This record gives sequence, structure tokens and C-alpha cells, in this order.
Amino acid sequence: VRRFVILGQKARASADFLLADIPSTSGRLDVLLRALRAGLLVSHGVRRDTLVYLVLLGDPAQRRVLRFEGAAARYLRPDERSLASTCKKALLTECAADGFTPVRAGIAVADGGMESLWPELRDCALYVLEPGAADIRHSSIEEAETAFILGDHIGLEPATRAWCAEHGARFVSVGPTALYTEDVIAIVANELDRRAAQGG
Ligand SMILES: C[S@@+](CC[C@H](N)C(=O)[O-])C[C@H]1O[C@@H](n2cnc3c(N)ncnc32)[C@H](O)[C@@H]1O
Repeated sequence: VRRFVILGQKARASADFLLADIPSTSGRLDVLLRALRAGLLVSHGVRRDTLVYLVLLGDPAQRRVLRFEGAAARYLRPDERSLASTCKKALLTECAADGFTPVRAGIAVADGGMESLWPELRDCALYVLEPGAADIRHSSIEEAETAFILGDHIGLEPATRAWCAEHGARFVSVGPTALYTEDVIAIVANELDRRAAQGG
């Protein structure tokens, strides 16, 4: 199973944003929505082997994680507005004290930031995506349980990089140029697809 974890430093965990103006009313949730589409959706379908986590860190008083599970997700449309509407509804859900609370098939929400994800990531090979790090094309990538961690338009905070390193993450890149998060995800997914097609 592949996992993509996207950290939104400004994205707020609140349903109180305008669908007509997502970027300026949500703390750039649009960046995360495009990343979600790139990670989970393919032409006319959903990647059943993929989970995407949107980590909403924009309000320190209320940090939350939205989880999208390709194996169970239904009726996800690829346009940003429709995905934003799905997130809006999910963010109205009250979270249980611990772990993820189901919202609807394939979608769940949890309180907390990166640390709340650890139970889901502890058995995964962790990879932090960072321009200039070791080229993923020449790196061995675990085939079974993997998690790829990416920043938003701002990038990853030093504390998050340090947390990942402490938890055994390897740093990899898709080349020397800093790209948009969604494009990096598309390249990583394509790299994994090619390897799978060649038998690993
Ligand atoms: C728009 S970039 C962030 C740019 C930000 N100004 C910075 O310096 O980190 C968004 C995220 O995509 C990932 N990323 C961008 N380019 C990459 C590359 N060439 N290789 C691997 N990851 C990349 C990183 O995780 C980054 O945090």
C-alpha cells in the first residue's frame, strides 16, 4: 500500500471557507486538494492501493488530519471544488478522542498533527520528498508498505524534517528542480507504477 502524507502549514482544519474562493479563505487548501487528486485519482478511477493524508496545521489550536483511502472511497470527483466540498463536510465531523473517526466510505478525520499519524505510519518505510536529495529513480523503494511525506507551497518545517529523520525516514527527490507538490506526487506514483509493471 502506498501512502502520501501532505503537510499543509497554512491550511486550516475548519469547514468555514468559501467554495468560490478556496485559496484565500482556507489557508491554501487548494494545494492539498490538487495533491489529493494526483495521489488518489487516475483517469476514470481511483488507486485502490493508495491512501492520502492531508495534515491541516494552519491553526495551532485545531490541527486535524483527513484520510482518504482508495480501497474504500466512492464517488470522488476530480475537480477541486467537489473535493473541497467533500473536505468541508468531513471537517464538520466531531472527532473521537483517539484515532480516526469515519466520515463516509473511505474518508476519515482525526484530531492532531503529524504525531497522530504515527500509529498508521509506524510499519511503513518512510520517504521524505525533498529537491536535491538522492534521486528516487536510482533509489530502492520498499514495495509493501510505503509512506511519502511532502510539504505544501511553503515546504516542510525543519521540525517536521527532524521528526521524520528521527523516525527513520529516507530523503529522496524527483530531481533538482523544486516542483509543485501535486506534480511530485504524480512523478512518484508514475515511478512506482513503472517499477510494478516491470516486476519491482
Ligand atoms: C512547492 S514545493 C515547496 C517549496 C518550498 N519553497 C521549499 O523550498 O521547500 C512543495 C513540496 O514538494 C516537494 N518537492 C518539490 N520539488 C521536489 C523535488 N524536486 N523532489 C522531491 N520533492 C520535491 C517537497 O516535499 C516540497 O515541500
